[in-house]
Amino acid sequence: MADIRTLISAEDIDRKLAGIGRAISDDYRGLDLIVVGVLKGAFMVMADLARHIDVPVEFDFMAVSSYGASTQSSGVVRILKDLDQEIAGRHVLIVEDIIDSGLTLNYLMKSLSVRKPASLEVAALLVKSGVQRTELSVRYEGFAIGPEFVVGYGLDFAGRYRNLPYVGVLEGD
Ligand code: IMP
Ligand code: MG
Repeated sequence: MADIRTLISAEDIDRKLAGIGRAISDDYRGLDLIVVGVLKGAFMVMADLARHIDVPVEFDFMAVSSYGASTQSSGVVRILKDLDQEIAGRHVLIVEDIIDSGLTLNYLMKSLSVRKPASLEVAALLVKSGVQRTELSVRYEGFAIGPEFVVGYGLDFAGRYRNLPYVGVLEGD
């Protein structure tokens, strides 16, 4: 296994998600909320964020593919698994592991907004600073990071490292 330098510790992630969960609970109290995780990367942040939301909420998942096994965004997004539920008239919060070019999210926002949700917002654990190629407004942002490729806490390199409880950088060997 390659060396991995810790960038964001499990404790820092949990503290951040607690704050975001409180904000979501305050903002959506009394509203019909559905939280949508983008697989596979968001599986861990969904599970941990969910524990910090204390208002009635439903969860659903979409699976998209944007990268293949490369580390560069192709701009081509395929929906591999669509939502199980209708979102018309409901408040939708998309949860992403990381926003890099923003192409994946941009595509998702477009395809979900035509279904006429009452609102459509985004929570992202990580946002790579300065590299967004599309205009995106992320309502709940965890950490802004540099342009380096990160793994762990749901994020993979060629399918691996998703199980790490922290976010790290692969060190060349
Ligand atoms: P975007 O379309 O360029 O914003 O890329 C979004 C998707 O690419 C994320 O949901 C991740 O699956 C993947 N991704 C982007 N940057 C990284 C990274 O640094 N490590 C692992 N996956 C990444
Ligand atoms: Mg990925």
